[in-house]
Amino acid sequence: MTDTAKITLGDKTVDSPVLSGTVGPDVVDIRKFYAQTGAFTYDPGFTSTASCESQLTYIDGDEGVLLHRGYAIGDLAEQSSFMETCYLLLNGELPNGEELQTFENTITRHTMLHEQLATFYRGFRRDAHPMAVMCGVVGALSAFYPDSTEIHDPHQRMIASHRLIAKMPTIAAMAYKYSVGQPFVYPDNSLSYTGNFLRMTFGVPAEPYEVNPVVERALDRIFILHADHEQNASTSTVRLAGSSGANPFACIAAGIACLWGPAHGGANEAALNMLREIGRPERIPEYIARAKDKDDPFRLMGFGHRVYKNYDPRATVMQKTVREVFEALKVNDPVFEVALQLEEMALSDPYFVEKKLFPNVDFYSGVILSAIGFPTTMFTALFALARTVGWVAQWNEMISDPAQKIGRPRQLYTGPTHRPYVAVDKR
Ligand code: CMC
Repeated sequence: MTDTAKITLGDKTVDSPVLSGTVGPDVVDIRKFYAQTGAFTYDPGFTSTASCESQLTYIDGDEGVLLHRGYAIGDLAEQSSFMETCYLLLNGELPNGEELQTFENTITRHTMLHEQLATFYRGFRRDAHPMAVMCGVVGALSAFYPDSTEIHDPHQRMIASHRLIAKMPTIAAMAYKYSVGQPFVYPDNSLSYTGNFLRMTFGVPAEPYEVNPVVERALDRIFILHADHEQNASTSTVRLAGSSGANPFACIAAGIACLWGPAHGGANEAALNMLREIGRPERIPEYIARAKDKDDPFRLMGFGHRVYKNYDPRATVMQKTVREVFEALKVNDPVFEVALQLEEMALSDPYFVEKKLFPNVDFYSGVILSAIGFPTTMFTALFALARTVGWVAQWNEMISDPAQKIGRPRQLYTGPTHRPYVAVDKR
């Protein structure tokens, strides 16, 4: 591979450096391209653009590979815990026993919310979508924790990161409790991160709550699967928001807003709604036909991915986890059978084969979450909870990067050119 790319534009040829990472495609450094040629590059949707340098997560979409700091997602899901994965993403290495213990204690110490935040919830309608509540409450955290908003102080950045990871389960559980009209349940720091979240969501103050270890492990694994995913839309939103120097709580609120969209984190909710609507295996061909019809906006939710042109490695773990949870909870929901058959039919259909559309992480996650007892509206909130570590790790990496500048894309302008203003009575 040459170390420069020659780009010719009219009579000008410029040499652009080619940068190599440790693995993955090389990138052509076009930072000086505009200064050299007076032209912009055009890439809506960033399909060919590396927006930053990162050491966190690597994806090979053709091979279906996902690595966090070099560790395969399947290995982490099988052998690690969400807390350990958080430590890994934030610090670059797996913790030893003592480091893990200290990290867990630190996160546990931050699980409570400022009591006044509870009154915030009462300002929302009871039927508000939990993601609307999450956007609002997380955005408001900067008003309650201003002592961790100085972004150039690494210690404050770390405290903000710990606070966000620790408080997200409390915030999400409270959004759920508010929607069902039950009292908020305070954290119990004798429980694990995930066990605590289950209790705050499904427990009530009047009765003891026993955490089911199979459910706890399954949910912990779901959190691992969602922890980070390179420069996806919400992470890029967090980075872009953070590039202006915005405080971490505001940046994560921006990430939550982006994640809510049905093409991103909202797909798990949409996928389960779709599977329920299909209802019976006999109706699958009708939905596959609709997904293929160019005049019908319907898409198979939980299928396809911008980066994976192979089976999403997270979906493999998800499928296995569905079986474990169904067995442990003795659930017999026909929706899983519909999902399995839909996957099988789609993967043998030339449309999906040619376009390399495979199940993604969201295809099976809703089936599990529903079996555990979460309403569909909570699915994306759980995604946000788990992705928070990825967002803060990426945000920290960006702030520490000396090459970091405010994110400011340019455009191909196709609107009117300069024209004279016409007074209202003359139009
Ligand atoms: N069902 C039917 N056709 C599809 C689907 C689908 N789920 N996904 C893509 N296609 C077709 C699309 O119509 C297009 O066809 P053509 O080339 O003939 O115009 C082609 O495949 C390429 O699609 P695209 O929209 O250009 O690809 P993209 O990379 O911009 O979009 C995607 C990726 C994930 C938004 C898209 O596959 C999609 O909408 N999937 C359903 C929503 C979903 O499951 N999202 C979760 C993504 S994974 C979780 C996360 O990271 O947030």
